[in-house]
Amino acid sequence: MTAVYAKNVRKSFKGDIALNQISFTAKSGEITGLVGPDGSGKTTLIRLLTGLMNFDSGELEVLGIKMPDKSSKFLENIGYMPQKFGLYEDLSVLENLRLYAYLQDTAHTDIHIDELLKFTKLKQFSARRAANLSGGMKQKLALACTLIKKPKILLLDEPSVGVDPISRRDLWEMIHALLDGETAVIWSTSYLNEAQMCDSVLLLNEGNILYHGSPNKLMNKLKGRVFKIEGNFFNKREALGSILESEALLDAALVGSYIKAVSQRYMSFPNEILDKIGNDIEVSDLEPSFEDAFLDILGVKTKAHSVLANVMSNFSDQKNLIEVQNLTKKFGNFTAVDNISFTVNAGEVFGFLGPNGAGKSTVFKMLCGLLTPTSGEIKILKGSLTDTNVRQNIGYMAQKFSLYGDLKLKDNLNFFARLYEVKNVHERINTMINIFDFKKYLNIKANELPLGIKQRLALACSLMHGPSVLFLDEPTSGIDVITRKEFWTHINNIAKHGVCVMVTTHFMDEAEYCDKIMLIYKGKAIAAGTPDELKVQVSPNASMEDAFVQLISMYDEESGIEK
Ligand SMILES: Nc1ncnc2c1ncn2[C@@H]1O[C@H](COP(=O)(O)OP(=O)(O)OP(=O)(O)O)[C@@H](O)[C@H]1O
Ligand SMILES: [Mg+2]
Repeated sequence: MTAVYAKNVRKSFKGDIALNQISFTAKSGEITGLVGPDGSGKTTLIRLLTGLMNFDSGELEVLGIKMPDKSSKFLENIGYMPQKFGLYEDLSVLENLRLYAYLQDTAHTDIHIDELLKFTKLKQFSARRAANLSGGMKQKLALACTLIKKPKILLLDEPSVGVDPISRRDLWEMIHALLDGETAVIWSTSYLNEAQMCDSVLLLNEGNILYHGSPNKLMNKLKGRVFKIEGNFFNKREALGSILESEALLDAALVGSYIKAVSQRYMSFPNEILDKIGNDIEVSDLEPSFEDAFLDILGVKTKAHSVLANVMSNFSDQKNLIEVQNLTKKFGNFTAVDNISFTVNAGEVFGFLGPNGAGKSTVFKMLCGLLTPTSGEIKILKGSLTDTNVRQNIGYMAQKFSLYGDLKLKDNLNFFARLYEVKNVHERINTMINIFDFKKYLNIKANELPLGIKQRLALACSLMHGPSVLFLDEPTSGIDVITRKEFWTHINNIAKHGVCVMVTTHFMDEAEYCDKIMLIYKGKAIAAGTPDELKVQVSPNASMEDAFVQLISMYDEESGIEK
């Protein structure tokens, strides 16, 4: 059955076109992935499908009903998880679920709530206040609240932002179980490997549909244009930069010890660069991914260099800029971080991975001096966190937005520059404005900025003083792949410059950029090594996501915990 019928739908906001005459259909029993860069119109489309928003012209029917329709008869049949879902922070996990069940007048709630708690792995935290959940746990609770009742159409606006790979797999299975041929799912996502698994994808850009159809068909067009480059690189980040400089290539990325590259349309691989980047370098074909196809259709070339590195300071000693020994944090009886030790050198990117609630942000907060450890020792730049000199050389981008929402973009830059006592304030602020292309947004309040710009601003503020140690807690959460690529060009170049970077992410392709990874689970470090070392622990051809999922389940098995 046709669940959505759209013909020439147009929607504008104060003259700005958000959706430009779009036409498509979506079927019941199928998952339609909604993808596109930030600001492409995904959220507007989902809001139109809820029936709550008027549009300028065109025809739109959802479940056979003409939109807009604000009647409760229509609303009863839709499930909707907006980007910013309202949890009641003062209520516990269970109370939130019960309240949503009550509001939706759902029968047999307790059995279903119990299932949802098990699926989201929140059962043992039923009594915890929503305010004290980790970022990803909150997202899972919000999703559970949306799934309390079985809808005829389910509208999910980026439900997996900040959700760990294991829960994302669970979420996928849960949605499939829910489908059973009846429910239509419209799933907006910035994880392009999720889009790859959808029955069809709708790719939006600047309010236009660039593609609608099977993800495989789009990917197949890239056959013969995706390459694996491996061998003895002189320096893998330098090599990546040189590869990206080539006009013949659209994109390139580090994947553990090799580099993946995608050529521009009608261009062959530029073999002449190989001698410059290392010895015995070989090139072979790789299967295209949906991300390759996405970048190709948008035609945005990944940048090779970032001048951001020029503002960063170098520390004379290269070894162990971060030294952590037996770090532990308890909240009451609950141990959030359990006896963790590691070191990070200058110029290294250290990835801190782990499921939601593993303790990653708690470690970051202790490393920045925002939370006092229960026990253990932290040395940054060989000194203590009480040392002003040390603190002034730390940059921290918090997982939760740390900007001043009511201040304009330029005032945020100013504030952070003065807070960090940057010497040449005006020059530094102008550098940041140029690097991040902020000109157009200078007078907009931080709260009102598009998410990609907000994250860029948060990164700019954390780097304002040119720190030698940088902590990035999920810097790319929720932003589109193009902006993520831009962030990693910055991070790679900063690291090349000698800055010590510690980063968390739930994007497994980003984990591949790291020199070393530590996998954290239930507060403990359960595995550590290079991306390749972690992958081979699981199987010779494992992906980073396989490694993540299986190392955790192996740990559970060894500890006698059922899946
Ligand atoms: N102030 C607090 N009081 C009680 N428990 C807390 C508090 N802060 C964090 N926790 C708990 O500590 C654990 C670790 O949380 P943390 O935010 O460090 O996880 P995380 O690994 O960053 O997860 P995510 O990937 O979802 O961001 C979670 O179980 C969380 O609920
Ligand atoms: Mg976190």
